[in-house]
Amino acid sequence: MLILGIESSCDETAAAVSEGPRRVRSSVVHAQHDLHAEYGGVVPEIASRAHAEKILPTVRAAIDRAGVALDDLDAIAVGHRPGLIGSLLVGLSAAKSLAWTLGKPLVGVDHVHAHLHAPALGDAPIEFPALGLVVSGGHTTMYRLTGPTQLERLGATIDDAIGEAFDKAAAILGLGHPGGPAIDALARHPDADDRALDFPVSRLGPGSLDFSFSGLKTAMLYAAKGRPQPRKIPGKPEVRVEPAPELTPERIRNLAASFQRAAVRALSLKVGRALEALSERGDPVRTLIVGGGVSANSRVRSELAALASEHGLALRVPPMDYCVDNAAMIAGLGAVMLERGETSDLSLEAVPTTAC
Ligand code: KG4
Ligand code: ZN
Repeated sequence: MLILGIESSCDETAAAVSEGPRRVRSSVVHAQHDLHAEYGGVVPEIASRAHAEKILPTVRAAIDRAGVALDDLDAIAVGHRPGLIGSLLVGLSAAKSLAWTLGKPLVGVDHVHAHLHAPALGDAPIEFPALGLVVSGGHTTMYRLTGPTQLERLGATIDDAIGEAFDKAAAILGLGHPGGPAIDALARHPDADDRALDFPVSRLGPGSLDFSFSGLKTAMLYAAKGRPQPRKIPGKPEVRVEPAPELTPERIRNLAASFQRAAVRALSLKVGRALEALSERGDPVRTLIVGGGVSANSRVRSELAALASEHGLALRVPPMDYCVDNAAMIAGLGAVMLERGETSDLSLEAVPTTAC
C-alpha cells in the first residue's frame, strides 16, 4: 500500500511516500526558517505564500525519490488540522486536487496524532495503551492512547508551548531562530553548568497534569537582561535593582543549560504524575511515546528514558529526522487510517484548532 503524505501546517512544506504505516520510501522537507528568522518567529502570511511556491516541487521530489508513479499511489493523506489556516489550506488544496484528478481516496490526518505515530516509522509497531507526550513549537500536551488515533487528553500547557519557550529563550540570548537546537547544543558543552541559575520548575496545583512555561521565559529574560526597575512608590525608599551580569559566552552557556534543565524537569515531573494518576485510576500503560520537535532534545530523550525505565515502560521517540514537522508521519498514519477505511471526501476542511 503506497500513500503520499502532504504536510504544510506551519513553516515546513513537506511531502513523503510511505509503504504501509511504517516503511518510509521518501521524505522531503522544505523548511522556511530563513524567511522567518528576521522576525524571530513564524509570520503566517509569509508561510502560506512560501508553501504555495514550494508545494508542487516538494510533492514531485517525494514521488521521484520514492521511485513511484502518481498512478501507483493508493491514497493521498494530508495534515488538515491543527495549524495556521492559510498554511493548512495550501497542502489541503494540493491533496484534494491530486485525489480528485487521480481518482484516489483522500485521508485527513491530525498533525498532533501524527507526531505520536512518528516513533513507529522504520521501527516496530507501538504497543498500546500508552502515555503520549507531544512537545513542539505549538503544543505541549499529554494523552492516554489506546490506539494511534484513540486519544484522551490528560493535560496541556496553559500558556506557551515548550518549543516556543525554547525559541524565545534563544532569541533573548541572541541565538537565532528556531532556537531549540542552539540551546541544546550550548547546554551539551562540557563546561556548561546547568545549576548556575535556579530557574523555576512549574508545578501548578498538586495534582495538575498541565504545563506552564511563561514564568520560566520571564526568568530567563530577567537573568539575561536584568529586572525592570519597579516604580517608585511615594514615601517608600527606592528599590535598588542589580543589572544582569554581562552576557559572556560562558554565561550564555550556563543560562542555556539552566533553562533546559528547568524546562525538561517540568516535563518529567508531569509525566511522572500522569503515570501515577493512570495507575491509581486502574489504567496503567505499557509505553511512553514522545513526539514533536522538542523530542529531538538530548535532555528530553535522556530524562524520559530514565523515567520510562524506572516505571518499566518502553520509551518510543522518533528518529531525529521525524521529530520536527515532516510528511512521513502524515503518510504513515494515513496508511493506518486507510487500512481502517477512515477516508475523507472532498469537503474535508482545514481546521486551525486541535481535535482534543
Ligand atoms: O514539531 P515542530 O517542527 O513544529 C510544531 O509542530 O510546532 O517543532 C518545532 C520546535 C521549535 O520550537 C524548535 O525550537 C524545537 O521544536 N526544537 C528543539 C530541538 N529541535 C527542535 N527544542 C529543543 N531542543 C532541540 N534539540
Ligand atoms: Zn508539529
